[in-house]
Amino acid sequence: MSHFSVEQLRAQFPALNETADKKPFIFFDGPGGTQMAQQALEGMTAYITGGMANLHGAFPTSVETDNLLLEGRKAVADLLHCAPEEVAFGQNMTSLAFSIARGLGAFLTSEDEVVVTELDHRANVDPWVTLAKDKNSRVKFIEVNPETYTLNLENLEEIITDKTKLVAVGMSSNVTGTVSDIERIIARAKEVNALVVVDAVHAVPHLSIDFQTIGCDVLLCSAYKFFGPHIGIAVIAASLFEKLAVYKLAPAPQQIPDKLETGTQNHEAIAGLIGAINFIENLGQGATRRERLQSGMQRIEAHEQELTNRLENFLTQLPHIKLYRAPQGFHKTPTFAFTVNGVKAREVTGWFAERYRMCIADGHFYASTLAEKLGVNPMGGWVRIGLAPYNTMQEVQLFEQGLREFLEQRVKG
Ligand SMILES: Cc1ncc(COP(=O)(O)O)c(C=O)c1O
Repeated sequence: MSHFSVEQLRAQFPALNETADKKPFIFFDGPGGTQMAQQALEGMTAYITGGMANLHGAFPTSVETDNLLLEGRKAVADLLHCAPEEVAFGQNMTSLAFSIARGLGAFLTSEDEVVVTELDHRANVDPWVTLAKDKNSRVKFIEVNPETYTLNLENLEEIITDKTKLVAVGMSSNVTGTVSDIERIIARAKEVNALVVVDAVHAVPHLSIDFQTIGCDVLLCSAYKFFGPHIGIAVIAASLFEKLAVYKLAPAPQQIPDKLETGTQNHEAIAGLIGAINFIENLGQGATRRERLQSGMQRIEAHEQELTNRLENFLTQLPHIKLYRAPQGFHKTPTFAFTVNGVKAREVTGWFAERYRMCIADGHFYASTLAEKLGVNPMGGWVRIGLAPYNTMQEVQLFEQGLREFLEQRVKG
């Protein structure tokens, strides 16, 4: 598979362009949110400058806005391989998860159990825990192995039982990058007829996703993590979506997917989302948009893998660094979390921001169950460096130089 030219790709990101008075930052916080592709920006400005409108009117900008939503759903359907009417938009992944949880209330009783994981971002934990509390249902956790940072699936049959009504699992950790064995978890959940929610927020920017093959009931993601604007996306299997009793205004549409979309949507963000998907499509090859998107994502993965190999090697061998990364043989995204002996995470990231203009994040990243279990909170959490397709080998080398310098100057012994 041929690679894309990273220089040509970088030219499509306005935030990376050097201007006379501004040197661009080096962006290593893809997991917190990527930079926006030019196509996404153009989609947004074209919608705004072309005349904005609300839906269902007789006049042209309203008709265009109706079409925009339809096009947005079709684009997402090709990206994630689902039906357009299974795609609903919302403010962000967290808000969508809470709305869906509220809608699932009718499905749960105090006899039922809900299963979540210790590895997940709390956005895929608390909506379901809140639902369980409302219904007096029991909550069980799939534990993390604290040595491998992977989910412990040995006792899956004891955790997911005939009583389980809902299983919420992340496809990939936004801290350690661990890609979980969701196939196995979903297979077990389906044996007992439980609903499955997959948080794909950290997976969609790095992996080609196939909703139909995954076989979950709900899949959630956010466009600002994959080169687009701030908007959340829910894919809900039509069979469940039809039955979902959502909280909505009486005169608002009853049919899927509109029924989940309370109030007026962020139309300009939907226009931007289409642009972001076009950006991925343009990286790939194939006869259909779905094929081009899959091939575009494979090229992104191949590029990120090259940088990952180098960075993983470097961080594993460095003294004073503890890297929280699953061993070889486990699939991972290009997201690295580490701590530096005796140094608060914020001191490291502040140093990089000041000396190297590098955007590197620190904290628990809302994976707070994992942070507590691994005892990183007293250190201010982890330092997280996350790669995106616009990152270069030179940037990775500069990070390595910076970290060596930091260790020499700040860490004794
Ligand atoms: C894995 C994961 N899940 C969920 C979320 C929440 O997404 P949103 O900001 O769209 O609510 C994030 C955000 O960082 C995330 O990384």
